[in-house]
Amino acid sequence: MHACYIERYGSPEVVKLGELPAPTPGPGELVFRMEAASVNPVDFKIRQGMLRAIQSYPMPAILGNDAAGVVTALGPGVTGFAPGERVAARLDKARMGGFAEFVLARPEHLAKIPEGVSFAEAAAVALAGLTAWQCLTEVLRLKAGERVLIHAGAGGVGHLAIQLAHGLGAHVTTTASAARHDWLRELGAVQCIDYRTADFTRVCEPFDAVLDSMGGETLLRSIAHTRRGGRVVSVGDLPTPEVASDYGKPWLAPVFWLISRKPRAAARAQGVAYRYWFMREDGAQLAMLLERIAQGALKVRIEREFPLAQAAEALRLSESGRVQGKLVIRP
Ligand SMILES: NC(=O)c1ccc[n+]([C@@H]2O[C@H](COP(=O)([O-])OP(=O)(O)OC[C@H]3O[C@@H](n4cnc5c(N)ncnc54)[C@H](OP(=O)(O)O)[C@@H]3O)[C@@H](O)[C@H]2O)c1
Repeated sequence: MHACYIERYGSPEVVKLGELPAPTPGPGELVFRMEAASVNPVDFKIRQGMLRAIQSYPMPAILGNDAAGVVTALGPGVTGFAPGERVAARLDKARMGGFAEFVLARPEHLAKIPEGVSFAEAAAVALAGLTAWQCLTEVLRLKAGERVLIHAGAGGVGHLAIQLAHGLGAHVTTTASAARHDWLRELGAVQCIDYRTADFTRVCEPFDAVLDSMGGETLLRSIAHTRRGGRVVSVGDLPTPEVASDYGKPWLAPVFWLISRKPRAAARAQGVAYRYWFMREDGAQLAMLLERIAQGALKVRIEREFPLAQAAEALRLSESGRVQGKLVIRP
């Protein structure tokens, strides 16, 4: 089958397109024919080898962390899915494999795609939508009436987080360049800050909660601008010690303690709860997000589609950090 893969970590040139054997499902696995996959910044980070401490991959490693398609084969013991059904998944982190004609997946990561939802929307919402939902509901425990700051509102995670936070009844402020503001207001943002010309700490009241995907200085300023007793989560900085146990790698906790000491110290000083969050695969939550799309309550913006043969170009565009919404790969 055609697949986009790497044989070693490195610069964009290590990304290859070629023929690899199609997967056969083992016990508790199934295979679907890919109709759409989506691009996430984690794809180029994996290519660079940035995540090796937490997750390394046997080579060749097929890139692509979320995908949608039609079930073609079930492994022994798989129930609840049948050949011909339309499905989507944030794929197993330990394996990925979305940028290929056929994709191996685990049923607990899969959701059926409701009528009215396209393969492209289903693939595009998986990783980014689950990240937004888990951060808002499991980490920040956002409540109606609270003031939340969502950074990078025009990005894959941000534009979904704005809508989900708005749906929870929160008052949403977001950062994005000025050209995106009208669109983000339509999605439910009440206040849009152009991060290129304005400092949110000067023009906004302190927040109850912050979803940060930028890390670094932006995260530190966000913590300093959260009310005492508030909550901050980052998906863009460096992992905090909890991530080591979440990943079943407790020996990494001291390393994560060291590399996350700046935001943790800032949070302690401010009286704010802070942690880094690594999203997890979750078929049941994905089904809920797909249902919201079917009902028109969640809109996924797809900026551009690329054929599988141009997946490397899509990865380069993602790496530019200027994508609005999502990029989708087609077989
Ligand atoms: N830990 C996890 O589980 C997890 C999960 C998902 C994502 N992430 C990470 O979260 C980050 C965002 O992911 P994504 O998929 O949303 O990325 P993305 O779609 O590539 O984000 C692109 C957007 O970022 C905006 N942006 C760039 N610099 C900005 C700044 N200084 N302030 C505000 N907005 C800025 C751009 O907006 P403008 O065009 O308006 O400039 C662009 O629309 C990535 O680093 C990704 O790896 C982590």
